[in-house]
Amino acid sequence: MGIGATAGVAAVGGIALNAQASSDRSSGQAASASDALVFDPDAYTRLTTSVTGTDGSTHSVTYHFWKALTYVADPVDEKYQSLNVSVPVEIDGTAVDASDAPILFANSVGGYMPSSVADATGIGGGGMGGGMPGGGAPSGAPSASASAPGANGNTNATGGALSTNQLLALAAGYVVVEPGARGRTLENSAGEYYGTAPAAIVDLKAAVRYVRFNKGRIPGDTDRIVSAGTSAGGALSALLGASGDSPLYEKYLSELGAADASDAIFATGAWCPITDLEHADGAYEWNWGANAAQSTGKVVDQTVSKELRAQFAEYQAALRLRGLNGFGPLTARNYDAYLLEQYLQPSATRYLAALSDSDRAAYLAKNTFITWKNGRASFAWDDYLTHVGARKKTTPAFDAFDLSAGENNEFGAGTTESRHFTAYSAENDTTGLSTRRIAADIPEKLRLMNPMYHLVEKVNGRRSKHWWIRLGASDTDTSHVVSANLAAAAAGLGDKVNHLYYWDKGHGANDDPGDFIAWIAKVTGHKARK
Ligand code: DHB
Repeated sequence: MGIGATAGVAAVGGIALNAQASSDRSSGQAASASDALVFDPDAYTRLTTSVTGTDGSTHSVTYHFWKALTYVADPVDEKYQSLNVSVPVEIDGTAVDASDAPILFANSVGGYMPSSVADATGIGGGGMGGGMPGGGAPSGAPSASASAPGANGNTNATGGALSTNQLLALAAGYVVVEPGARGRTLENSAGEYYGTAPAAIVDLKAAVRYVRFNKGRIPGDTDRIVSAGTSAGGALSALLGASGDSPLYEKYLSELGAADASDAIFATGAWCPITDLEHADGAYEWNWGANAAQSTGKVVDQTVSKELRAQFAEYQAALRLRGLNGFGPLTARNYDAYLLEQYLQPSATRYLAALSDSDRAAYLAKNTFITWKNGRASFAWDDYLTHVGARKKTTPAFDAFDLSAGENNEFGAGTTESRHFTAYSAENDTTGLSTRRIAADIPEKLRLMNPMYHLVEKVNGRRSKHWWIRLGASDTDTSHVVSANLAAAAAGLGDKVNHLYYWDKGHGANDDPGDFIAWIAKVTGHKARK
């Protein structure tokens, strides 16, 4: 198993790339800085890998692999600001033409850490990110059904599950682009942090621009870019979808010499997105405030928890979101009922329905809080919280009073490694800061990092209109309302939203990757290979 390079010969065959490349110079703006960004259709390696489908069938996929292409003209750090491209040319012995196929744009960011694909030896080999230190190991075992670990042996927050989407996409005949991106821990010799917000999203946008600038040279349909990412990578994927072509990022993109092209994407896949960070502390306490913390076995400071919960109630009211399927206005008061009705009970129902009669009976005997009637699971919110058990984080979960959270580092700037990004935590700072207020640049950084800004506050017409959102029902890395709000905001704008929870799964789970691949075919109008 794994990925085996069969030949390093750059023989062009199967795809009519050369003719297109020479006749399609018009797709770029011919700016001189952009000349460096012209994709060379011939500069690939021919590789073959074996992909196990979700049904257990094995497929031999031969693909052309372009490695470590720097996607900006003036990179800060090419190791991260580069991307890999994989284009299938032969699947199970049959030639395929991917020139009009959807493009899966799969980032491998974890923990808002740097992610590089530069050392990958094939598809799915990216991900130098290390997850969120101090956040504990992901509790959700990756449930990848495609084989082949990262080709360079790297894993990140989501381990082997990360490359599942890429491998299945390749075997379905799609083009796969894997961008690297700067991350929060990068520090130069002057002690400056150069990968903190908004570096990662700016990089991903620059990478999308590179792909679109190379329309006709790079195989695939640049109008059908579907982004994917998990956790912090899911947050960035959602942000990429929400903020397409937003002028907010322009100055950052031009500093890097990003290609002159649109950075809007067609569809968004986001697994357990750790987003809406400035409201996540309140949302977390609303959700998990009564659960003991994993690290201490005790409930967190209930005064802090309650104050944060009150902030969530205010925020949720201000969002003015309506629940899916005619639920009505979503508030802190009814959100438990909404999660149960819309997501959690259906999630348990799907899980239980798929079990054999005897396995179901055994599960129900162990989990007596669930009522199984007429093929449906029902249960009470408090019992569900007890079932999930210990919360992964202490309080506040994201803007820690002592600046110890990874997100504090994500909002670092210059030579300051970590900063507060909420007024509440700045006021309650325990590190001895002289000012107890957030820095003047923080509000702009928050807008740059939050998909909700682009969906609610300043609705972006250039956003992605198709959303695939997934979350483990036992994931306590953030509040369940974070992705449910994302889904409600997008659906409220008329976008198509497909959001499910995986029962009994923790952080980073990807239980239905085959469905995601089929969904891509459906929303892009591409005829999927069987
Ligand atoms: C990730 C996990 C977290 O708990 C978090 O706060 C940020 C990112 C991650 O796995 O990417």
